Amino acid sequence: MIVADDYTHLSQLAADHIGRLVKEDPQMLLCAATGGTPTGAYERLAEGSTELFAQMRILKLDEWCGIPGTQDGSCDHYLSRHLLEPLKVTPDRYFRADGDAKDLQAECARMSEALRAEGPIGLCVLGLGMNGHLGFNEPGDRMVPHWHVVELTDSSLAHPMIQGSGASITLGVTTGMQDILDSRQALLLVSGGHKSEAMKRFLTKRVTPQFPASYLWEHPNLTVICDRDAVPSD
Ligand code: GLP
Repeated sequence: MIVADDYTHLSQLAADHIGRLVKEDPQMLLCAATGGTPTGAYERLAEGSTELFAQMRILKLDEWCGIPGTQDGSCDHYLSRHLLEPLKVTPDRYFRADGDAKDLQAECARMSEALRAEGPIGLCVLGLGMNGHLGFNEPGDRMVPHWHVVELTDSSLAHPMIQGSGASITLGVTTGMQDILDSRQALLLVSGGHKSEAMKRFLTKRVTPQFPASYLWEHPNLTVICDRDAVPSD
């Protein structure tokens, strides 16, 4: 676990980490979270030459349902803006669930198939949900191993990404917990004082489906980069 001075430092450390792994494996499948936390790291990546990313493949970690991928607020829109366009990732190297698909179960089955064909994930970049969710693996009685449809919690539905989108969202689709644990490397990014309570729970290392991020303690190659504000004071 690395404690960065602040968000700028965290973003640089995360970008360096991602860049290092892509150098080692240029065709790597990068599973990318959206949300506020990884934006700075993605921006740093976009500042350099795009040559390094000429073969890298990207898997979208999760998606809101009921909001078209072209619309601001969707994870597709976010990744297009922050990763795909700046790094010149061609559509054949981008793997995405359509959150607006009519048959969401079939869409998840298609994504599980795509992951079987393209996987394993080389690096899974993750943010920490306020309620401990990873992707849209929400707290519950059990974890779902592969791509699935999720009824989102109020905490997830309060995420700033979709406020003002006008869409009425109740469901999400997400990479499953086993898919995340099967990644070669996992990188959890945590920033800000509002995450310190969640961080406190994470640091107890008690693995429970009530706090999905705790499963990362079972990952063989986990790196956590948090900033000082996210570190619990007690
Ligand atoms: C959202 C996203 C997740 C993200 C998480 C944390 O629900 N679907 O992929 O990791 O929230 O977001 P943030 O980094 O904005 O706190």
